[in-house]
Amino acid sequence: MSSPPRILMCKPDFYGIEYEINPWMNRLVGTDAATSSRQWQALHDTLVDLGVEISLVEPMKGLPDLVFTANAGLVYRSIFIPSKFRHGVRQVEEPFYTAWFQNRGWDVVNIPEKHYFEGAGDALFLGETLFAGYRFRSDARGHQWIGDRLGVEVLPLELVDGHYYHLDTCFCPISPYQAIYFPGAFDDYALNVLKSRVDELIEASAAEAASFSCNAVVVGKTIIMNDGAPRLSESLRRLGFDVKPHRFTEFIKAGGSAKCLTLRLDGEEAASWRSGST
Ligand code: ARG
Repeated sequence: MSSPPRILMCKPDFYGIEYEINPWMNRLVGTDAATSSRQWQALHDTLVDLGVEISLVEPMKGLPDLVFTANAGLVYRSIFIPSKFRHGVRQVEEPFYTAWFQNRGWDVVNIPEKHYFEGAGDALFLGETLFAGYRFRSDARGHQWIGDRLGVEVLPLELVDGHYYHLDTCFCPISPYQAIYFPGAFDDYALNVLKSRVDELIEASAAEAASFSCNAVVVGKTIIMNDGAPRLSESLRRLGFDVKPHRFTEFIKAGGSAKCLTLRLDGEEAASWRSGST
């Protein structure tokens, strides 16, 4: 029997908009604590129903974005590469995530200080290859360092629209040969790379991408995404996926949605190295 999928999350106890580091964030708008908590819990409970084993990192006062565990770092087999955040306000999160992994026996591998790297927010496996977004948060050289260290091929993809500042806001591998993407977020060269290296690309329109539909969590053949993308959902259903729309309005105010609130610990569905897959 294969082992259950494992995901790291962090309760939104101290979540809120306390600074502005991407175009979605506005301190004047703020968030509603009860609604944030309900939306987070609904995602958590759906994952549990799907058989996912959830691990939790302790929420910390003063670290409102700690809920976005996708940015903790990159998981590869038993290796954890911690993020080196671009913005000082998030750099404070680094030791908390690192300690969590260190205390549980992961091999923590640090990238050189001179690179910025924002973990699974910008680095996603599809098959054997690491697709890596750069410009707004991570830098291309950091991704190359990781590829060399892990011995995997890296395809750096330049992001061009500040609203899609992390790769996981505009690209979502859903199987080792299929991915959702929003073309408007990439430069021409990156688009060519995507078209030549992904067997099947499922396009999100500008409006559907703006509803954060590319920021989806994939567990087996189930996809949890923010509602507001009926056309994309229909395309995915035709491909045999069960799409579960959820509401993530409070988290979108910080520039995140379903995927950002999770970090897969046993390898994403689309990663060919995933434990239990071939
Ligand atoms: N406010 C957070 C930031 O700007 C949101 C992070 C979203 N995470 C993600 N993986 N896209 O850093």
